[in-house]
Amino acid sequence: MTEHKIPTAPPCTVFLFGANGDLVKRLLMPALYNLSRDGLLDRNLRIVGVDHNAATAQVFAERLHAFMRDRAVGGEGVSQTLDDKVWARLAKRLDYQTGDFLDPATYAAIGKRIAQTSNGNAIFYLATAPRFFPEVVQRLGEAGLLDESKGGFRRVVIEKPFGTDLASAEALNACLLRVMSERQIYRIDHYLGKETVQNILVSRFSNGLFEAFWNNHYIDHVQITAAETVGVEGRGAFYDGTGALRDMVPNHLFQLLAMVAMEPPAAFGADAVRSEKAKVIGAIRPWSQKMALKNSVRGQYAVGKQGRKRLPGYREEANVEPQSQTETYVALKVMVDNWRWVGVPFYLRTGKRMSVRDTEIAICFKAAPYAQFRESEVERPKPNYLKIQIQPNEGMWFDLQAKRPGPELVMEDVQLGFAYKDFFKMTPATGYETLIYDCLTGDQTLFQRADNIENGWRAVQPFLDAWAAGGEVHAYPAGDDGPEAGAELLTRDKREWHTLG
Ligand code: BG6
Repeated sequence: MTEHKIPTAPPCTVFLFGANGDLVKRLLMPALYNLSRDGLLDRNLRIVGVDHNAATAQVFAERLHAFMRDRAVGGEGVSQTLDDKVWARLAKRLDYQTGDFLDPATYAAIGKRIAQTSNGNAIFYLATAPRFFPEVVQRLGEAGLLDESKGGFRRVVIEKPFGTDLASAEALNACLLRVMSERQIYRIDHYLGKETVQNILVSRFSNGLFEAFWNNHYIDHVQITAAETVGVEGRGAFYDGTGALRDMVPNHLFQLLAMVAMEPPAAFGADAVRSEKAKVIGAIRPWSQKMALKNSVRGQYAVGKQGRKRLPGYREEANVEPQSQTETYVALKVMVDNWRWVGVPFYLRTGKRMSVRDTEIAICFKAAPYAQFRESEVERPKPNYLKIQIQPNEGMWFDLQAKRPGPELVMEDVQLGFAYKDFFKMTPATGYETLIYDCLTGDQTLFQRADNIENGWRAVQPFLDAWAAGGEVHAYPAGDDGPEAGAELLTRDKREWHTLG
């Protein structure tokens, strides 16, 4: 295999707003460390932490070092020891700017720093609480820092949550677009940084085989699951006002849906890919409130067990209202109204404190039309599934039926599969490496465009409205697979959830 040499990203100053927050130390700095280790950062790339707490570059670097030295820098569950040489190179790039996000003086100081560089390139990474997004962006604009007319690119990276409903997402987009063009905006969804998510498009569009059966003639329904074993992990204050629907569906789950359901783009450029994604998310049928209630199930984890360990209920978590009605589990049925998918339901579910961690897409094919082997004990042929597992066991598997060797005709479930780890050396990564590299090189393919985000909220809004008006939140024991009502969403359609794990 010939090694493809990846070019070094252009020089730039990356301003990390919210430098003392969790995201920077847990994900962004480890990702920058990995990029630096792989030689993908230019020698003139600088990283400036911006936050209101007074600190120096040295203190900032020491804090990050202490955190990263003691923990994994390879992403969740992947430990990797910090290499002193790589760290020393990264530390030299670090600087710190003390400043209030609302104070124009902060932006004047940032402007001075950019003026001192020979390239003028800057990325403003908003790793702040969402309430600061419009404030920071507006001030960057007022200070002239988003002006690219003197050469040098100016880009803004916005984290999720991008709005809390359709109206607020539209308002935030309008605010961003008042001070810069869409070309300068990088809305992050970290699911798009996952190799396995990117691979869905490659699998679909580089293997002629799939297209032949990727439609409503052969596919019965699609299931998209993001099951987590963790609870709210100290994020009670944020989560209680957010809930599973807003936290996971219009962003991560819809990105997976788009990857599975979009049409092949005319080219692999950012605009062609994002137009197809926006189209398919825009084709999700907007349910009436009545239908939204019928096609959704909300759950909340109660006290449960993991082995012999007691797991607390959601309402016992720190900073959660004792009578909270916030959902930690959601299951939805949505329909994609276009030529390819008409009549094929997409069932989506996500939950915290479930029995296993499993993010997967299960494509369920229509069963063989006729029970060929009538003499066998199987009355109806089972449907075949294609399982695309995003995490933790990355890969793809086809569930098939085969004859068990022997004189009798007995069918057995078998699998045809591809596991990433069998073919590729997976270097530890946080998922942010690709996204940061793409932002440095100006490739917006893996970032959400305004219409993509708004279409997502448009599809989710009927559920929000219906729930605000009524409906039940079902309790499920922590460590279990969600409430019974979640299973019924499928059994009433004579289907069932693909087994987790
Ligand atoms: C985040 C959500 O966006 O995604 C979290 O806010 C969730 O609540 C996380 O745990 C899941 O990401 P991953 O990569 O672990 O599947």
